[in-house]
Amino acid sequence: MSRDNDSFVVSPMRDNWYQSSSYYASSFALITTVNEDGLTSIGPYQLSFPFEVIGHYSWMVVSRPGSNTHTNVGRTKKCALNFVEYDKDWVETILKFGYPGQEPAEKMAYNPFNLIASPTPGRESGTIFPQIIAEAYQVYECTLDVDRIAENPILRDSTSAHLLLNIDTILLKQRWFDNLEGGGETMPAVPLTYGFRGASKFWFGARAEPYALPIPDLGPRHEVVFYEANRLDDDIRFTEDACRQLTGIPRAFLTQALQGIIAVAKKDGVTMIDLDYVQKLNAER
Ligand SMILES: Cc1cc2nc3c(=O)[nH]c(=O)nc-3n(C[C@H](O)[C@H](O)[C@H](O)COP(=O)(O)O)c2cc1C
Repeated sequence: MSRDNDSFVVSPMRDNWYQSSSYYASSFALITTVNEDGLTSIGPYQLSFPFEVIGHYSWMVVSRPGSNTHTNVGRTKKCALNFVEYDKDWVETILKFGYPGQEPAEKMAYNPFNLIASPTPGRESGTIFPQIIAEAYQVYECTLDVDRIAENPILRDSTSAHLLLNIDTILLKQRWFDNLEGGGETMPAVPLTYGFRGASKFWFGARAEPYALPIPDLGPRHEVVFYEANRLDDDIRFTEDACRQLTGIPRAFLTQALQGIIAVAKKDGVTMIDLDYVQKLNAER
């Protein structure tokens, strides 16, 4: 059957609709938290995604209330989101970690991952900061935003626990850091989950080999310049007006040209590149 001549039917909505009434596939985080005895535990969470991404960096986790993760992070305010690559044996253990009602000590008895102290100064393991998974390709270290949850009726009054987590540190393994800074020539083998189905099965998948497509060239757009310009140097910002002025630069030379502007701005002690500054540079040239 071709994909376009099957007809749509309405799927009745049930609790946990994303998996009981439809198909939603994504990766998941392994969340480490510490219990009252100082023991780090691991909980898998698919409903776990970037929340605020510009200016403020945060993450949202939707958990059943009363999970170890919810209880522990409620007490310590701290957790770490660990991301591991696909491995068939690990996936089987991760599924077991997801079986509710296990105490952290029970889970840690069959845990195949190495738990290590965070390398971040001030996040030494104890009764507050969790250990992190040594095998992870990346870890986000987070703090629960208790105040903003209390202020927001959707987060505060939901029947699920909505954990609004501010991202304190992003840790990448050296190899993945070098890959990212070098333009991202490859991608981690991220595991997928499709969740719970048919009352007896939990579905997982390995990702197919990723490939890169060039960004379509739909003509000069200041949004493209803005994204690239504000990515290059942590200390230098470009305004939107400045980027509108720079849309004439051919795509192939854009990064190099922006780096040139940043170098001159640094010499001039300028940290915010606005329209006036770009016009001044153009006039001098
Ligand atoms: C791959 C996977 C993804 C899961 N995603 C979620 C989720 O997003 N939210 C949730 O409440 N439970 C989810 N679960 C079930 C939890 O892992 C389960 O409630 C577990 O008890 C949580 O561990 P914890 O009590 O140590 O926090 C998931 C389970 C698996 C195996």
